[in-house]
Amino acid sequence: MPSLSVFGAQWGDEGKGKLIDLMAKDADLVVRYQGGANAGHTVVVGSEKYVLHLIPSGILNRGTVNVIANGVAVDPLKFLEEVDGLHKRGIAVDGGNLKLSAHAHVIFEHHRVIDQLSERWRGEGRIGTTGRGIGPCYADKAARTGLRIGDLLDPAVCRQRLRAALAEKNALIERVHASTPLDLESQLDRYSMLAERLRPFVCDTGALVRRAARDNKRILFEGAQGAMLDIDGGTEPFVTSSNTGANGIFSGAMFPAKYLNRVIGIAKAYCTRVGEGPFPSEQDNPTGERIRKQGNEYGSTTGRPRRCGWFDAVAVRYAMEVSGGDGLIVTNLDVLSGFDSIQLALRYRLPGGEERREWPADLPNLDSIEPVYESFPGWSEDITAVRRYADLPQRARDYVEALEREIGIPVLMLSVGPERDQVIPRGALMP
Ligand code: GDP
Ligand code: IMO
Ligand code: MG
Repeated sequence: MPSLSVFGAQWGDEGKGKLIDLMAKDADLVVRYQGGANAGHTVVVGSEKYVLHLIPSGILNRGTVNVIANGVAVDPLKFLEEVDGLHKRGIAVDGGNLKLSAHAHVIFEHHRVIDQLSERWRGEGRIGTTGRGIGPCYADKAARTGLRIGDLLDPAVCRQRLRAALAEKNALIERVHASTPLDLESQLDRYSMLAERLRPFVCDTGALVRRAARDNKRILFEGAQGAMLDIDGGTEPFVTSSNTGANGIFSGAMFPAKYLNRVIGIAKAYCTRVGEGPFPSEQDNPTGERIRKQGNEYGSTTGRPRRCGWFDAVAVRYAMEVSGGDGLIVTNLDVLSGFDSIQLALRYRLPGGEERREWPADLPNLDSIEPVYESFPGWSEDITAVRRYADLPQRARDYVEALEREIGIPVLMLSVGPERDQVIPRGALMP
C-alpha cells in the first residue's frame, strides 16, 4: 500500500472509521487532510466503541503515525478533549504517534458562535451544519483573516491577529446577529493555555508525508464527510466547506498528485444523509424509518436521525468518477436483511421526462428529479457472521453484483457489521 486514498462516496457516514482502522494495521501513516470535528468516525473493537472526530482513525493501531494535515480545520478544544478521552481509555497519544500541522487553520469560539448564528439567520434556507464552526473557519482561511496553529504558538502574533479578527467578528455578532460579543482577553487566556498543550504535536506535516512517500512508506489518506458534500462537486450550498474526495489530498496534505497510487471509495449498501439538501433516493416514509432502525442511523457527531434511502448509483458513479476511484467497499450490507425487496436507483428522470445516468451537475435545482429504480428480491438471512463471499445468500450476491455492474468499478470488500472482523474480502485493496 504505498499511498492510498479512502473516501466516502455518498453524503458521509459510509463506515470510513471502521475501514480506516482495519486498513491502518498495514499502514505507516494515516492522514486526515480536510474537514474537522464535524466528522464522526466510529471504530468498534470488541465491546469498546470509539467515535473519532479530529484524530485519524488509525490511532488505535500501535506503530501507526497519525497526521492532521494543513487542510484540516482544527478546534484546539476538541483536539485536546479527544486526546484526553483516548488517554483515559488507555490509548497512548503523544507527539510520537500524532502529528498536527503548523499550517492547519484554527477553529475559535467565534467560529462556532457564528456558525450557529448564521444557521438561524438563514431560517428555511439553513444547511443543517454540525455547528462546529467549520464554514466560518474555512471562510476566514480563504479571506486570509484566520489564524493557523503556528500563529497560536507565538503569543505576540496570536494577540495581534486575534485582536484584528475579533474586532470584525464581534461587530458581526453584535450588530448583525444582536448577540453577545466575545472578550478578547479571556479568549487569549483560553487559547494561549491550549496552545502550550498543542506544542508537542506540532510540526510541518507536509514535509513529513512527502518524506514518507519518498521512503516508500505506506500512507493511508482518510477522507471525512462524503464526495456529495464536497464544496466544489457536491450539492452546493448543502455541502461542507472542504474538498472531501481524493482531490482534496493534494492541497490538504501538501502531497503531490503523482505520489498517490490508489483510490478507494466507500458506500453503504443503501444511502443516508444528515442535514438539509437534495437526496433523490430518500425514503421519507416507513421504508426509510425501517432502514434507520435496522442500521441505527443516528449522527455520530450530533445524534440527529439520519435521513435514509436506497442506494443511488447515479451519485456513487459520479463520486467515483470525480475522485478516480479504482475500487469500492460496500458497507452495512447486513442492514438490508429482512426486506422483501430492495430498490436500486439506476438513473434520474428530469422534469420534462428526459432520463439520465449521469449526475445532473448542470441543473440548478435537484429537488424535482425522480430516480428510476430497479427492484431486487431481498434475503431474510442474518449475514453478520458470513466471512466468505460464496457463503452469502444468492440474492445478496445478485444485489452486490448489480451495484458493481452499475458503478462499473470492482467491489473489493463488503462489510457486514460494525466490528473489525465483520468483513468479506472480494479483491485486493492494493494490487
Ligand atoms: P463514518 O463517518 O464514515 O466513519 O461512519 P460513522 O461512524 O459515522 O457511521 C457508520 C456507523 O455504522 C457506525 O455506527 C459504525 O459502527 C457502523 N458500521 C460500520 N460498518 C458497518 C456495517 O457493515 N454494518 C453495520 N450494521 N454497521 C456498520
Ligand atoms: P463524517 O466524516 C455526515 C454535513 C452536515 C451538514 C453539512 C455541512 O462522519 O462522514 P458542516 O458542519 O460541515 O458545515 O455541515 O455537512 N456533515 C456531515 N454529514 N457525516 C459527516 O462527517 C458530516 N460532516 C458534515 O450535517 O449537512
Ligand atoms: Mg460519521
